[in-house]
Amino acid sequence: MDVEQKIQKSRTKIFKAVFPNTTNHYNTLFGGTAMQLMDETAFITATRFSRQQMVTVSSDKIDFKKPIPAGTIVELDGYVTYVGNTSLKVRVDIFVEEMYTDFREKAVSGEFTFVAIGENNKPVKIL
Ligand SMILES: CC(C)(COP(=O)(O)OP(=O)(O)OC[C@H]1O[C@@H](n2cnc3c(N)ncnc32)[C@H](O)[C@@H]1OP(=O)(O)O)[C@@H](O)C(=O)NCCC(=O)NCCS
Repeated sequence: MDVEQKIQKSRTKIFKAVFPNTTNHYNTLFGGTAMQLMDETAFITATRFSRQQMVTVSSDKIDFKKPIPAGTIVELDGYVTYVGNTSLKVRVDIFVEEMYTDFREKAVSGEFTFVAIGENNKPVKIL
C-alpha cells in the first residue's frame, strides 16, 4: 500500500454528542475537552496509519473559530498531512452539527506531531 492509500485508509472520524458534562459555564464545549478529544483522534489516526507505537511530541496552533453549544453533535476528522522519518503530522478538524437541522460548520482545527517509538522509548523509522 502506498502512502496516499495509507492516508486514505487511516482517516479517522469520531462523532460525539455534546452533553452538559463536557461544557463550561457558557454552556459550550470546554476548550480543554476539545483538545483532549483532538489528541485522542490524532493518536488513533497516527496509530492506524503506522500500526506502530506512537507518542505525541508536539501540538501546533489550535484555532477555536466557533463555539460548540451543548446539545449539538461534533465530528472529529483526523488525517495524516506529513510523513517524516520517525515522525508524522495529523490534522484534526472539529465540525459542529445541530441535532435537528442540517446546519454544520467547522469549529476547531489543529495539528499534532507524533513520533514512532521502539524499545527503550527511542524514535524508530515509520515503516
Ligand atoms: C517523542 C520522543 C521519544 C522524541 O525523542 P527526541 O530525542 O526528541 O527525538 P528526535 O530529536 O530524534 O526527533 C524525532 C522526530 O521527532 C521530531 N520532533 C521532535 N521534537 C519535535 C517537536 N517539538 N515538534 C515537531 N517535531 C518534533 C523530529 O523532527 C524528528 O522527526 P523525523 O525523524 O521525522 O525527522 C521524546 O521527546 C519523548 O519521549 N517525549 C515524550 C512523549 C510523550 O510522553 N507524549 C505523551 C504526552 S505527555
